[in-house]
Amino acid sequence: MGIFKHLFGICETRPPADAGCWSCAQGKIEIVLDRAPELSQPGRAIRLEGSALPQRVLVLHGQDGHFHAFPNRCTHLGHRRLDPVPGEDRIRCCSIGKSVFDYHGRNVSGSAREPLVPFQVETDSGKLIISLE
Ligand code: FES
Repeated sequence: MGIFKHLFGICETRPPADAGCWSCAQGKIEIVLDRAPELSQPGRAIRLEGSALPQRVLVLHGQDGHFHAFPNRCTHLGHRRLDPVPGEDRIRCCSIGKSVFDYHGRNVSGSAREPLVPFQVETDSGKLIISLE
């Protein structure tokens, strides 16, 4: 990622191409995996945000083969968005502070001092279900 992207806090992860692949109701996000090919490979991610959600969410197919979801808000002051770290089981803030967290939300390096609190994620009949509460 270029220095300018870090300076301006521009993340790499995009929203899903099929905006209808997910919905949110009663504190749960449901993603139809067939409609979210971005999540088909380990290391890939989507970001979900908008008025249907109480907060921004990063969803990724981890290098460990499991799906993970996090508040897409770095715990450091700038509260920038997060991206997967290519080839590693880590996620990283897109800002110049480059805070890095593991899949448990623990700080690994960078400016942030507080951990992330991952959301509970389960799969059911081709859907990914993320509990926001
Ligand atoms: S906002 Fe993430 S390191 Fe500063």
